[in-house]
Amino acid sequence: MGLFTKKPLSILLAEASDSEKGLKRTLTAGGLVALGIGAIIGAGLFVRTAAAAAQNAGPSVTFGFILAAIGCAFAGLCYAELSSSIPISGSAYTFTYATMGEMLAWVIGWDLVLEYAVGAATVGIAWSEYLNNLLVNILHWKPIAYEWCHSPFQVSPEGVRGIMNIPALFIVTLMSMLLIKGTSESSFVNALIVIVKVTIVVLIIVLGWKFINPSNHTPYIPPAEEYVDHQGVSHNFGGIMGILGAAGTVFFAFIGFDAVSTAAQETKNPKTALPIGILGSLVICTALYLLFGHVLTGLAPVSFFRDPSQGGEASVVAAIQNFMPGYKWLADAVTIAILAGFTSVILVMLLGQSRVFYSMSKDGLLPASFSKLHPKFQTPYKGNLIILLLVGLFAAFVPGDVVGHMTSIGTLFAFILVCAAVIILRKKEPNLKRQFKTPFVPLFPILGIISCLAMILGLGWENWARLGGWLAVGFIIYFGYSVKNSKLAKGQVVIPEDPPGDGLH
Ligand code: ALA
Repeated sequence: MGLFTKKPLSILLAEASDSEKGLKRTLTAGGLVALGIGAIIGAGLFVRTAAAAAQNAGPSVTFGFILAAIGCAFAGLCYAELSSSIPISGSAYTFTYATMGEMLAWVIGWDLVLEYAVGAATVGIAWSEYLNNLLVNILHWKPIAYEWCHSPFQVSPEGVRGIMNIPALFIVTLMSMLLIKGTSESSFVNALIVIVKVTIVVLIIVLGWKFINPSNHTPYIPPAEEYVDHQGVSHNFGGIMGILGAAGTVFFAFIGFDAVSTAAQETKNPKTALPIGILGSLVICTALYLLFGHVLTGLAPVSFFRDPSQGGEASVVAAIQNFMPGYKWLADAVTIAILAGFTSVILVMLLGQSRVFYSMSKDGLLPASFSKLHPKFQTPYKGNLIILLLVGLFAAFVPGDVVGHMTSIGTLFAFILVCAAVIILRKKEPNLKRQFKTPFVPLFPILGIISCLAMILGLGWENWARLGGWLAVGFIIYFGYSVKNSKLAKGQVVIPEDPPGDGLH
């Protein structure tokens, strides 16, 4: 037993069928597609698209979407295979534990905090941008003062420094409370929001199309140059590096389809429902994103999205207000839909995070409180509260650009390990029953790895350093706590006829 101890598949599968004693199985394939779209369409589309156009690629942000979609499709196929053969909570963490051993499983579990917890914070920050729009343009109230809706690392063009982002903190708190009440209720709210969100994206595409100004699309791929934004941060703009950077940035917009696999333990008939949920939501969103990116960059020039007092914040609504005369109703509807839509994204990300921590805690790699279920709601409420603390700190005190990129790079890294896990599991467990098989293994997983690496390259050295720093903190916790408490390493993993008595009863 040691760092490379793998969790036996027989135990994982037995745990998965132990639904009576664990989380409630309430989700169907349709519910999963809704869960996926609920997690996918959010700040990535409504905030990060304009940021990628402004900082990286101009109109060629659409090429960034294509690259990101290709990477996600390959990784999505790998996720579908793994989650249909190991239908248990914990996503990439669980797959890695079964294939590459405990230490890498810890690495990926810790890395997934970037995807889910830091991702939830990113969307919370984006929610805060659009809240001001609601207050000023719809309710005709005063905006929230700059210092109370920005992090201490941000300065306005007028020289006001942020203190903390209170609206972002508020929304992540509210969603955590909803989550504690239970997945079943939450997924009903989510389904309603998904319908509104998809409708609004389609409306922007259809109604905005005739306002596309071809000069904003010329040249479609801007020449390569360095762009320094008003905070003094430099970016590779234009050319191939611009497109790679844009892909890494808008990759954020695809994050979430994999969150579906974290709900495996709460899914009825997971072996067929999971692949449908993962790939179905991915295909629908890719089509919408390409069209949306084309329309948005056609409405306004890049300079508009670079200017914080114009389209630099709440960019989609700003573009409609300034470049689609007569469509104030659409801007207002978008504001309200976005505020509601972002809440569903935050909800699914928080759900994903709590389920990953739940699995890690069941394995002894995190304290038992992360898997302690609420006696009435049957949700890991203590874990949710601890996660809220972490997410709240990021939401309140870190800029949206930074958390957005950290989320992207962390998720890309997780995707690489998931692709590798498919290849390894095919070799090690050739006879495992797989309801869904990734086509062309090892070619597809390898292409997934290459496209994710290309996006990591595009995100630049600051983000590589942030990922490295994050993983270093993870190693400290692993060697300080998890190694000593790992149930597998201590030989304490028991099959579910006699499950550990830590809250499942
Ligand atoms: N894909 C999610 C979003 O764009 C995380 O908000």
